[in-house]
Amino acid sequence: MKPLEIKKGIYSVGVIDWNVRNFHGHTYTTKRGSTYNAYLIVDEKIALIDTVYGPFAGELIENIRAILPVEKIDYVIANHVETDHSGALPSIMKLAPKAKVFGTQKCKEGLYKHYFENWDFQVVKTCDTLKLGKRTLSFVEAPMIHWPDSMFTYCAEESLLMPNDAFGQHYATSERFDDEVDQCALMDEAAKYYANILWPLSSLISKKIEDVLKMKIKIDMIAPSHGIVWRKDPMKIVNAYVTWAKNQTTKKAVIAYETMWGSTEKMAKAIARGLSDSGVSVKLYRIPDSDTTEVIKDMLDAKGFIIGSSTHDNDMLNNIAGFLEAFKGMKPKNRSAAAFGSYGWSGGAVKEIEEVIKAAGVEFAQPSISVKYVPDESELKACYEFGVEFAKKIV
Ligand code: FEO
Repeated sequence: MKPLEIKKGIYSVGVIDWNVRNFHGHTYTTKRGSTYNAYLIVDEKIALIDTVYGPFAGELIENIRAILPVEKIDYVIANHVETDHSGALPSIMKLAPKAKVFGTQKCKEGLYKHYFENWDFQVVKTCDTLKLGKRTLSFVEAPMIHWPDSMFTYCAEESLLMPNDAFGQHYATSERFDDEVDQCALMDEAAKYYANILWPLSSLISKKIEDVLKMKIKIDMIAPSHGIVWRKDPMKIVNAYVTWAKNQTTKKAVIAYETMWGSTEKMAKAIARGLSDSGVSVKLYRIPDSDTTEVIKDMLDAKGFIIGSSTHDNDMLNNIAGFLEAFKGMKPKNRSAAAFGSYGWSGGAVKEIEEVIKAAGVEFAQPSISVKYVPDESELKACYEFGVEFAKKIV
């Protein structure tokens, strides 16, 4: 990716990672790749906003050099410690050793614990500013959105918000702006990003968006640290975040299950028919044949979750246990859930699923349903009715 002037004198100098398919230690699949965005502001003082993932330091440096010598950078704004944004910082600081780094107190501590360097670091807080010349940067602390060190940087003269991970998407494209890409793919990636990274932090996000809107700052461009830049309609993603953060849902149910010999799957399909015939939009996923990142994304706007597993050694199947661990971490609010499964003799899977649902704080819509060995016609009818009943609870 060559540097692109996103506003007069402000350049996107980040990189595209076309081939990354797993993120965060295989907890997030990135089927469309990703980008690590960094921005260079050329004014009387030169400021670099964030860097990129370490292996791409050379590309970042090449991009900056296409505009000016790296040695000329006066300030590096470190909005976030995580290595996909700070990994190239040591390389930048080697070339511009006199540059001053700006970030939160937690950022200072976090960067030291990553790179063990004593760079000239200025701690900033919300409302602190940094004058570059014609432009002034303002900082807004955003703790736990999504790390303790996280911060947004705003440039009032350009109505430009650079919120690092917030409003981002893992979406590698040669196009750089929201109006240049497929809208469905864009919002799909934005929702997936929110669901898998930010969902558990929804109450903090609601509050932070409220606080920023109350500041009545003008925003006509949002330039996040992943994916495309929002220039045509930046409020589109802000409004989507408001909806997601409020845990607003639709009449939709996600069924996630694993089956040993097909009995639990027969139950899942009968439940799905009952839901669907009752006007509920249904998504049915067999775990682990499904991409968990996509399943979690599909849960973001679903009112109901129905989880099933066959019993093996008195337990739910391992794959469902792993999936539920991810599910529990999302801390979903305002949802209804139910459990189902087949067993041979003692059972156990359904009870274990119930325990995880309880631990996640999700309320039960109705008692669970279990079937011994293979469901017969009447038991499949009972599963269908289970779906019909569940539909009534999620209107
Ligand atoms: Fe994209 Fe929290 O790093």
